Amino acid sequence: MTAQNSGQTASPLRLGIAGLGTVGTGTVKIIQNHAALLAARSGRPVAITAVSARDRMKNRDVDLSAYAWEDDARALAVRDDVDVFVELVGGHEGVAREAVTAALRAGKDVVTANKALLAIHGQELAELADAEGRVLRFEAAVAGGIPVIKAMTESLAGNQIRRVMGVMNGTCNYILTRMESGGLPYEQVFEEARQLGYLEADPTLDVGGIDASHKLAILSAIAFGTRPAFGSVEIEGIERISIDDIRRAADMGYRIKLLGVAQMTGRGLEQRMSPCLVPADSPLGQLQGGTNMVVIEGDSVGQIVLRGAGAGEGPTASAVLSDIVEIARGVRIPAFGQPAQALSVPQAARTAVPAAYYIRLALADKPGALAKVASVLGEAGISIDRMRQYGKHDEEGVAPVLIVTHKTTPEAIDHAIAALPETGVIAGAPVELRIEEV
Ligand code: NAP
Ligand code: HSE
Repeated sequence: MTAQNSGQTASPLRLGIAGLGTVGTGTVKIIQNHAALLAARSGRPVAITAVSARDRMKNRDVDLSAYAWEDDARALAVRDDVDVFVELVGGHEGVAREAVTAALRAGKDVVTANKALLAIHGQELAELADAEGRVLRFEAAVAGGIPVIKAMTESLAGNQIRRVMGVMNGTCNYILTRMESGGLPYEQVFEEARQLGYLEADPTLDVGGIDASHKLAILSAIAFGTRPAFGSVEIEGIERISIDDIRRAADMGYRIKLLGVAQMTGRGLEQRMSPCLVPADSPLGQLQGGTNMVVIEGDSVGQIVLRGAGAGEGPTASAVLSDIVEIARGVRIPAFGQPAQALSVPQAARTAVPAAYYIRLALADKPGALAKVASVLGEAGISIDRMRQYGKHDEEGVAPVLIVTHKTTPEAIDHAIAALPETGVIAGAPVELRIEEV
């Protein structure tokens, strides 16, 4: 064994960690608790030299006394005794962006868990890293502890990726599964999630589908060799999902998931994040609570399913450490799997891939009502696969009707949904959800 491999005499990899919240303290704990293991695996010691957060006096349940303290993460990023700047602050502007930029310019490698930063400024940062001969790694940014970035950039490097999809926001999956298991309305479970501390400081990042879309944009870039294109993800959150839809979907053999799907078609790059129906007995349908799942389809490998904890101190810090050890080993992989300049500008395309759809209507109980609905669908070129009318009429004399269509285009569905209220036989707005083949 060489000195480098023994982990005893090689020079330590010196870390500066900015952000000492959930992920930052988790990272410090692993480095403290697994020092020998990390040194053995890295071929050199992994040592923290300096840390930074907003409030120096805050009790963080971890001993920081051996490390230098910086009040400003940007100062930490350029310290001479830091080889790798570990950004665990968050946010796509301000301190995180400035400190990462400063670190790369100062010749530091960077590890971050910041999906918003990468989805929005990933191209500029990857180009800077390449220009400076540094690496920018972010395993923790997508799906927490699931090693999806390394799976895609390394293990699946020999594949043309056809499609990548998944449930990448644990909070939304928790809310949807808890609504179903408890028979509870959205508002009540949202409040429960808030009290459990699951929601981001700005909860619309979670329930509005934005956080998951940041992650999807990062995976798309790696999968298709394109610049991260968060701005062209079609995003819809879970706010309009009712307990009624969850129950009715279950009756028809489906579960509702906030599903991200990215695929390259003849028209361009389709990226969408939206609540979809998936078969209840499929791996995605079975996914409970805060767990994440990413499904990758490659031309040679077929379908790969990765499942695990998508958030939390331990799982996310585990992913941060995988990047740190990779750098300590001397492995240097371009941010999105190829030099940033070689990433193409994607042609953004609205989703056009046909799918079956679930439609829920409140239908007036009068002669010819159903025929009018069928006629609107027929005129839009939509064929009905299954239909169910529930006998229970409310005080307005309307009854819920569920329709599952044969495969059709999103354009045809939009057209039909816009036309349905004009029939005069439905109350309220119809609900439509795509049924994704998984
Ligand atoms: P957090 O618990 O809110 O911690 C944020 C840390 O950043 C805190 O220590 C805070 O300091 C520090 N900070 C905030 N503003 C700062 C500033 N202007 N200058 C210096 N330090 C500042 O956040 P987190 O959950 O650990 O998330 C960190 C990153 O990991 C984010 O990018 C997040 O999206 C990502 N991530 C999180 C998870 C998760 O499960 N939590 C999973 C995947 C990825 P104080 O402690 O002094 O306030
Ligand atoms: N808010 C995110 C989630 C945290 O719920 O999945 C992990 O990125």
